[in-house]
Amino acid sequence: MSKRFTITAALPYTNGPIHIGHLAGVYVPADIYARYLRLQGHDVAFICGSDEHGVPITIKAKKEGVTPQDIVDRFHANIKTSFEDFGISFDNYSRTSGKIHHETASEFFKTLYDKGDFIEETTAQLYDAEANQFLADRFVVGTCPKCGNEESYGDQCEACGTTHNATDLINPKSAITGAVPSLKETKHWFLPLDKHEAFLKEWILDRHKADWKPNVYGQCKSWIDDGLRPRAVTRDLDWGIPVPVEGGNGKVLYVWFDAPIGYISSTKEWAQREGKDWEPYWKDKDTTLVHFIGKDNIVFHCIMFPAMLKAEGSYILPKNVPANEFLNLEGQKLSTSKNWAVWLPDYLKDFPEKQDVLRYVLTATAPETKDNDFTWKDFQARNNNELVAIFGNFINRVLVLTNKYYEGSVPSPKAFSEIDTETLEKVKAFPATLSKSIERYRFREASQELMNLARLGNKYLADEEPWKVIKTDPERVQTIMYVALQISAALAVVSEPFLPASSQKLKTMLQLPPHSWAMVQSGEPLLEPTHQIGKAELLFAKIEDAEIEQQLEKLAQSKLANTIANKVVEPQKETVAFEDFSKLDLRVGTIISAEKMPKAKKLLVLQVDTGIDVRTIVSGIAESFTAESVIGKRVTVLVNLAPRALRGVESQGMILMTETPEGKLVFVNPDVAQETANGLKIS
Ligand code: MF3
Ligand code: ZN
Repeated sequence: MSKRFTITAALPYTNGPIHIGHLAGVYVPADIYARYLRLQGHDVAFICGSDEHGVPITIKAKKEGVTPQDIVDRFHANIKTSFEDFGISFDNYSRTSGKIHHETASEFFKTLYDKGDFIEETTAQLYDAEANQFLADRFVVGTCPKCGNEESYGDQCEACGTTHNATDLINPKSAITGAVPSLKETKHWFLPLDKHEAFLKEWILDRHKADWKPNVYGQCKSWIDDGLRPRAVTRDLDWGIPVPVEGGNGKVLYVWFDAPIGYISSTKEWAQREGKDWEPYWKDKDTTLVHFIGKDNIVFHCIMFPAMLKAEGSYILPKNVPANEFLNLEGQKLSTSKNWAVWLPDYLKDFPEKQDVLRYVLTATAPETKDNDFTWKDFQARNNNELVAIFGNFINRVLVLTNKYYEGSVPSPKAFSEIDTETLEKVKAFPATLSKSIERYRFREASQELMNLARLGNKYLADEEPWKVIKTDPERVQTIMYVALQISAALAVVSEPFLPASSQKLKTMLQLPPHSWAMVQSGEPLLEPTHQIGKAELLFAKIEDAEIEQQLEKLAQSKLANTIANKVVEPQKETVAFEDFSKLDLRVGTIISAEKMPKAKKLLVLQVDTGIDVRTIVSGIAESFTAESVIGKRVTVLVNLAPRALRGVESQGMILMTETPEGKLVFVNPDVAQETANGLKIS
């Protein structure tokens, strides 16, 4: 039976491009789910858009000397295009700076206001007198009252995920001027979450214990157990949706109040364009609403937005909120500010036509139950060993042989062997297995099942060896190829949610008429005898080492740029008189022996020939050099430094060292300029 689904994917903040963390956490699983539902014949609204308010956008605009609107215009276009090019099948991609959204969010606020669902209160809020501004959300940083993270924002701590009020922060500091904020009175509207506690308890803790993911349920439970408190839903800022009620002058809606309403306004925009009614998608209790988000969004989608919807009264609540954990990159947390990411626009430029590869890898390694790591080596391995060697190889053999033996006409099967029947039965069972995983939001498991179907085909061909049998029993080969073609067609149908472009390509190659998931499940032939297939083309191409090295090099460059950018430059010390400088006796020496100082991580004990004598120098370089590697090195030595005992060994001088831009320790070499990693020369 066809059902109605509203599928939302978190509205991305519009202050940077999309990266693989966003894709793996939210957009790829949401897209697989939406495509899957459409294939079942359901009525689907897959909704997203740009989240264009909030403090980070204002901060970025200030930094660049442009308006917040300039920033969101730039990144809205960037994000929208890259989603399209990547093949995310949103039914609508809207933006929260649009008129329809401003109207929808204002109206929503007014409805709650009129119903008396807010508390209106004047309280003391953090204020930066120097910047002449209240400090909300990301304008203030301080210690999280819950976990002690010293870099928590005013509204949310990224380390433990809790949300709090800015005044809860310990040692708050202005992110604008660095000043310690003062307190100043201001009026705001609060959503009394405490009043919704009973409902939230019943709805989440009782009713969704079994079907929500443990990570989502667990976070909700911990917040509810901690006790819910009223949360301000307005801010003293100038970028956002103006508070539409009396006394709201100069204030805007809190970004986390307006953004989720963006799902509703985006649905309205879509419905208007399609000549549909938006309301059933949000108000009919037979509609299934599912929010795809990352783990830092859980509280807003499971506590705050449902409380808003419930207070409004006419909306349905989400059936599920399948939040993912985070994806790391090469063992390190993704970071926009540190440029530690694989950006979607860059990926599309470097790997045009390889959308499906990234989709597949991100699904196969999705951070569904715990944080996970993306590595370029794994990306290459999954492409070469799975997509190319299993899926692509099977399809290629089937198409090439069918064209070779039968000029592309599907052969008539003769008697089925036991293996044939068994194989066809197995194929029939795949859709149900895949459905089960997908409907439980286990996309990773599903992607592996899909690969198992290709494995089944590969193994079938390897066992039946039509290329050998053709010489002795051509009739048998007709059956083998018929079976292999049915597997190929099944792959073309069920791979669509996971690998949409490849599925399309395969359908074209097979000249496959449209088939549903149910058709595969029925076991009816998907390709009838005498059906004419098309030419074989490669479905997936091998990725070479050089391509991977190029990506790793790009990351290495980011790391280097960061180290340089983050380097703290010490202020210059007091001037010294030339007479003082000339007291230093610098000589060129040679290290003639070296050994590690026992039980000291950093120290090497060196014997240095200074030209005057051979003496002992203790040097703190053991973390950068092994003892063996420094023997024979010519170095610059300060020979008249007053001797000093280090761990009981008297050190009679100092070896001069300096640092490369990467922070690597190197000798001040008296002979040749030293080449360093980034080509700079230090002499
Ligand atoms: N912009 C938020 C983020 O990237 C997500 C907003 S989701 C919505 O974390 F529900 F508010 F739309
Ligand atoms: Zn915290």
